[in-house]
Amino acid sequence: MLKKTVRDIEVEGEKVLVRVDFNVPLNTNTGVISDDSRIRASLPTIQYLVDHKAKIILCSHFGRPKGKIVEQLRMAPIARHLSQLIGLPVDIMPDCVGKDIRNKVETLKEKDIMFLENVRFHPEEEANDPHFARELANLADVYVNDAFGTAHRTHASTVGVTKYLPAVAGLLMEKELEIMGNLLHDPGHPFACVIGGAKVSDKMGLLQNMLKRIDLLLVGGGMAATFLKAQGYGVGCSLVEEDKLSLSQLLLQEAAEWNVPLLLPTDVVVVEGKIETGALTRIAPTTNIPTNSCIVDIGPQTIELFCNELRRCRTIIWNGPMGVYETPEFSRGTRSLASFISTLNATTVIGGGSSAEVVQEMGLTDKMTHVSTGGGASLRFFEGAVLPGVEALQNRAS
Ligand code: 3PG
Repeated sequence: MLKKTVRDIEVEGEKVLVRVDFNVPLNTNTGVISDDSRIRASLPTIQYLVDHKAKIILCSHFGRPKGKIVEQLRMAPIARHLSQLIGLPVDIMPDCVGKDIRNKVETLKEKDIMFLENVRFHPEEEANDPHFARELANLADVYVNDAFGTAHRTHASTVGVTKYLPAVAGLLMEKELEIMGNLLHDPGHPFACVIGGAKVSDKMGLLQNMLKRIDLLLVGGGMAATFLKAQGYGVGCSLVEEDKLSLSQLLLQEAAEWNVPLLLPTDVVVVEGKIETGALTRIAPTTNIPTNSCIVDIGPQTIELFCNELRRCRTIIWNGPMGVYETPEFSRGTRSLASFISTLNATTVIGGGSSAEVVQEMGLTDKMTHVSTGGGASLRFFEGAVLPGVEALQNRAS
């Protein structure tokens, strides 16, 4: 990898500021974390630092408190969960900067783990304020960024701090960049991209960047309605991004120019009226979607078509659900694809966000090559964008 990692620097006895992304789904009433994969994913970095006798200062954001203290968004329950997972005490701080924290940092011993309070309680974090970044940096001797999920943000704890400290990647950051970087630069072929989710606009950058690298594009989810309409199909009352119709047509054209088959659903699950649990569902061919119905999932014929196509692929990226998967009746397409992909003898990479959530919830994570911890970040990565949090880290000598 181009960037230096924690393995390339001396950490013994050093105060190491580690930016993690522990922005996890937490029920603030029960304190239960429904998916702790982001915490587990950073354990190798934290364990490495413990094993190498560093003094560890963890920091993360949690939610979007918009620069104010929000009691429900304190890091304490997350820090306690980390403590259980790693089997070591984790000292929770009441803030992330200030004199008390500076004093506390001076008392750290080798292998101690301290967890700073939510960095987004300070408006200076998202503003990438240099003074705030310097205050964070002053707590430590070196900086390790393991927060791949936040690498697309130019914030004080992801970018600003690197101006004042030697800055390297953590082991999760390294893993994410290596696996996903290989897909951009040296994928096994045939290479398929399975794209879903609500909006074409969210995925347009990714689609345009990936078209030149892939052999097959499968489109499902809400966004399929916009593509279907762009091809002249009626899509009933499904949500269509009218202002993206011409862009979708352009993409269909580009796919043809790159010789990449772009497959849309041939049948869909539709509901009349409200999209809600218990709604009456019907299967409709995409050539004949009733005007009073909305698409909520891909149909059985499409599931079979997509699986048959994927069967011959050596590399698969999947980003975005195939339907309104949060409602069990409309999740069959998403779940069937997840199960099928997990059985394949191929490199299978799941972009973060909702697709990762489904895979995790179905217990399929270990059956995939990689499930990214970054939703927005993996999207930006596959768009070919430079991630500021990665860019800011030190390069290895060439
Ligand atoms: C995420 O959950 O995608 C990351 O933690 C980034 O969070 P943000 O979108 O609030 O910046």
